[in-house]
Amino acid sequence: MIRRRVAILISGRGSNMAALVAAARDPGYPAEIALVLSNRADAPGLERAEQAGIETAVLDPKVFSSRNVFDKALDARLKAAGAELVCLAGFMRLLTPEFVEAWRDRLINIHPSLLPLFPGLNTHASALAAGVKIHGCTVHFVREEVDSGPIIAQAAVPVLLSDTPETLADRVLAAEHHIYPLALALVARGRTVVVDERVVIDDAPPEATVQPLISPHFR
Ligand code: GRF
Repeated sequence: MIRRRVAILISGRGSNMAALVAAARDPGYPAEIALVLSNRADAPGLERAEQAGIETAVLDPKVFSSRNVFDKALDARLKAAGAELVCLAGFMRLLTPEFVEAWRDRLINIHPSLLPLFPGLNTHASALAAGVKIHGCTVHFVREEVDSGPIIAQAAVPVLLSDTPETLADRVLAAEHHIYPLALALVARGRTVVVDERVVIDDAPPEATVQPLISPHFR
């Protein structure tokens, strides 16, 4: 079995990164984590990665004269690590169109909403304000526009009357940790193809076995 080399980009606590690292510990998982890179030296996730024995790197944007120069250095560092796929996991930095295009369909992001609803920040507060009954998270290939791109996988969670942005975030985060490794495995196994900006997954379950997801307000 081929294990694809994956780099993970983080800026913060790195819980999604840790979920990917944990999944990749299984020798049967189709990807190995070759590098965890942060744009912030103080990202707590870096220490978590080091403890897991993963190679880490920091690229401090302040050292680079422009966004373009930063992204060129990032590209070089990813290539030096032999990365074939790149996972964004709470990487709080806009990437240039050139970088996004260079990694087209090999650059993956996780976002804490059911895209295209609630792109950007504060997704859980926005979901509560909108009164949606189901919220969730999305793993998608990255395109130039922020939080857009072909959707690989989504997970839905109920929104409860008692929810605060924090309790909702916790419920969504658990779903994120569940689907990010599953989505990366699909891509690493070569089971995803982007057709007309939609992800087609081979060997999907037959439609007859698929159940609707219903918000949990009925008995
Ligand atoms: C997650 O909610 C992810 O969906 C978003 O940023 C957050 C990162 O959290 N893109 P963590 O660093 O993975 O814990």
